[in-house]
Amino acid sequence: MSKKLIFAAVLVMVVLLLVAGCGKKEPAQPPVDPPPVDNGIVVSEFVGSDSCKGCHSDVYSEWETSWHTIKATQGPAFGAEMESNILEWVRNDWDNLLTYMIVDQLDKDTIYVATEKVALEDVDFVVGRIRKQRYATYYDGGPVEVYKATTEDGGISWTLNMDETFEFEGNKERAGYKFLFIETRPNETENPNYYGEWRSWQERCIACHTTGFDYEAWDEAKAEFVAGQRDDLRDIFVADLRVGCEACHGPGSVHASSMKADDIINPAKFEAYEDKMNTCAQCHTRAASSTKLNTANDLRGFMLGDNYSDFANWLTPKWGTGDRNVSIDGKGRRDHQMDLDMRLSRFINPDSYHADQACFDCHSPHRVGNNPDNLRLKDGIAEGCVQCHKDFTMEEALDGRRGWEKAEFPNWGTEYGRQPNKQHLFNLNEEGLVYGLSPEQYHWVLKDGGDAKTQADWSGIWPWNKEAADAAGKTTFVGAEPWNQ
Ligand code: HEC
Ligand code: HEC
Ligand code: HEC
Ligand code: HEC
Ligand code: HEC
Ligand code: HEC
Repeated sequence: MSKKLIFAAVLVMVVLLLVAGCGKKEPAQPPVDPPPVDNGIVVSEFVGSDSCKGCHSDVYSEWETSWHTIKATQGPAFGAEMESNILEWVRNDWDNLLTYMIVDQLDKDTIYVATEKVALEDVDFVVGRIRKQRYATYYDGGPVEVYKATTEDGGISWTLNMDETFEFEGNKERAGYKFLFIETRPNETENPNYYGEWRSWQERCIACHTTGFDYEAWDEAKAEFVAGQRDDLRDIFVADLRVGCEACHGPGSVHASSMKADDIINPAKFEAYEDKMNTCAQCHTRAASSTKLNTANDLRGFMLGDNYSDFANWLTPKWGTGDRNVSIDGKGRRDHQMDLDMRLSRFINPDSYHADQACFDCHSPHRVGNNPDNLRLKDGIAEGCVQCHKDFTMEEALDGRRGWEKAEFPNWGTEYGRQPNKQHLFNLNEEGLVYGLSPEQYHWVLKDGGDAKTQADWSGIWPWNKEAADAAGKTTFVGAEPWNQ
């Protein structure tokens, strides 16, 4: 499908449909202005969730207080009233925290952190609220005095060295909203967690946290800024700061004036598994990197109906060795990897009841976090597990750690996965433990021009990517240790 929904319809038709549509449901607000028409082609554009409110007030009010609307919020730099977006204890304790801005990276274990603390009123964006919170402030890429912070565990934890300062000459490539060195949690009252992300919010993560990020406009703005033709990079180019209606329904300008069901996507009506899955997996995934920008790891530019691999490079599974992201059998180890678990499960048990399920078959898309009966699931889902399954509880089914030997830096080589309520691999081994692939099911691809006898020339691939690798003429292998064959 093309990047934007394109409907071949002349303006006259739109007006006619608009009139016809009115009979179906009395809109509480007038339809939004008709969408732009170019040579008879009407292109749907992002209009923001508030444009849907008048006609869908029921859904809007469910969604309005859901966790999807507090993913990224404005900070006090946009007005003192935004202070309340920052966790209360953090606000009260701000002056005691290491609120330094991360400027850039020296090497993969060392980052530069500005020596001047960021004032509470200078926080531009607040990311997250439920489990953790991070803060961003604007940096213009100019020279600045810095400290160094280092990591010894691949970036899981960081230590700031304040004994020595350095002159950082500046880097316009890094300009934008930059993260502070702190990462806070609601249930703590002092901060033991430090953060090492040295890229800006716009160049790294924004598309998973907002709706309708226009990455082409950002790339252009950045190029102009670096070339000295633009004053700043404060624009974030999003249609909605929240995970809004159009993140899961596609751009809505045409529908918001036509009111036709055919002009908007209802993900429940997707026929292809990939399209259903990607409704949520465009954000609930852990990609290796964006195909649109090598510093990013969101699926910037993705529209419903697009192919995942046109927007992101898949994470590499580390069959038999494991790493921070995946255990040796492919179980996801970090946040937002449920899509990978579910795809693996579908490969292992293609005929299972769970193989064709989409995230929204179990999860409530509009009421995440604000349904008092169940914070994450649709009504009846939790009760359903017990009705079909007598041998294990829901907690056991989603516990990828139970019974497995612990994995920790630098020893990742175990089957230890994620704690209860996170693992989404619907597959248990003979002992009833959550399990991924067995060694004879590992999938590999040989590097272009690589030596089949050299271990380093083989890399793991997910089973669902074998077909594409074969079609591209690559050498693939299924089984343990292809270099020993
Ligand atoms: C002016 C009123 C109006 C506005 C504004 C509006 N809608 Fe609708 N919407 C409707 C009507 C009427 C229907 C039912 C259409 C039908 O059943 O033929 C509908 C149906 C839908 C459906 C169900 C489609 C299906 O195939 O089941 C979705 C999803 C939807 N709207 C999303 C949105 C989103 C997202 C926005 C904001 C971008 C929006 N709507 C704005 C009037 C509106
Ligand atoms: C591939 C999409 C994606 C990317 C890229 C991404 N995130 Fe997230 N992030 C999510 C999802 C989805 C969640 C919800 C948690 C989950 O699903 O496990 C989340 C959760 C969070 C939370 C916790 C939210 C809360 O309320 O507790 C914070 C904070 C966060 N992300 C910050 C960031 C930052 C900063 C970056 C960039 C360095 C980033 N994320 C990149 C998708 C993404
Ligand atoms: C996180 C993704 C997501 C967001 C955000 C979202 N929707 Fe939906 N919506 C869905 C899915 C998935 C369905 C299919 C029904 C289902 O399985 O619950 C749906 C169904 C609908 C329907 C069909 C009728 C119904 O209630 O099932 C309407 C109308 C609708 N959404 C409107 C909206 C509007 C308006 C907003 C913003 C206020 C919105 N949606 C936000 C995912 C989302
Ligand atoms: C545009 C990106 C995006 C899309 C699309 C999206 N989500 Fe989310 N989702 C997020 C982010 C970011 C969070 C974290 C919100 C927070 O807690 O601050 C989140 C949170 C959640 C949570 C709660 C996670 C927790 O910490 O317990 C669930 C459940 C969830 N989403 C389900 C869905 C489902 C189901 C869909 C598809 C119908 C979907 N999401 C589509 C970005 C997205
Ligand atoms: C068979 C039903 C089912 C399906 C399908 C499903 N989930 Fe879940 N999910 C659950 C259950 C059950 C929980 C635990 C609920 C709880 O603790 O509130 C859960 C928990 C979660 C959480 C919260 C974990 C945390 O970090 O706190 C997220 C996020 C999530 N699922 C995302 C997804 C996504 C994304 C998909 C699709 C790729 C998906 N789920 C598919 C049943 C399902
Ligand atoms: C309508 C019935 C039904 C419901 C509801 C249901 N399942 Fe299943 N589930 C099945 C079937 C059928 C299988 C395949 C069983 C098999 O292969 O022996 C299965 C398999 C599984 C497996 C793998 C079992 C194994 O031995 O490998 C897990 C784990 C699982 N389901 C968890 C859940 C959870 C968690 C829920 C609730 C969120 C749930 N199921 C809801 C029918 C259901």
